[in-house]
Amino acid sequence: MLIDPGYIRDRIRTVADWPIAGVQFRDITPLLQDPKTFRVLVDCFVHRYMDMNVDVVAGVDARGFILGAVVAYELNRGFVPVRKKGKLPFHTVAEEYELEYGSATVELHSDAIVPGQRVLLIDDLVATGGTMIAAAKLIRKLGGEVFEAAAIVDLPELGGSKLVREQGIPLFTVCDFS
Ligand code: PRP
Ligand code: ADE
Repeated sequence: MLIDPGYIRDRIRTVADWPIAGVQFRDITPLLQDPKTFRVLVDCFVHRYMDMNVDVVAGVDARGFILGAVVAYELNRGFVPVRKKGKLPFHTVAEEYELEYGSATVELHSDAIVPGQRVLLIDDLVATGGTMIAAAKLIRKLGGEVFEAAAIVDLPELGGSKLVREQGIPLFTVCDFS
């Protein structure tokens, strides 16, 4: 890896009991706010995928848009948004899933992926894995292949990264909180 995972981990803020009691919220905003850290982080993803055969980058609403769009731009690929329910105006496909703190539905425009495309799926964090798996299901529904799912943070104690890999989705994360 291009960067020391500890460098990134040390710049993530932990907020206890947010948004509900018992959740240790891993806040990536300090990473984004500091120009050097943001650049190092983006470069890590760009370096990993620049010579790989990826056709399009998908990012997950909302924090996955921040990194996903910049990485897509740097890789000279298009970007498709996986959005929360009710935000996309055209025909959509949808998947419901459970979160660490609630449930949600994600949607993709039905023409967002061309069958056979190799999709790099980006979010900020994997907790229970529900979001990443739902997003991957949408891509597969449209005939795409999830080349790899990628996130900044893994929370392995919540078991999501294991579940993602058990679904046959390769997963790359920069750092974890155990
Ligand atoms: C967070 C995070 C991931 C997801 C991870 O998003 O950005 O998308 O939860 O959790 P999981 O692995 O248990 O599915 P959230 O739904 O809070 O939305 P946000 O990006 O709009 O803050
Ligand atoms: N999404 C789901 N669980 C989370 C956590 N603990 N911190 C930040 N984002 C999350």
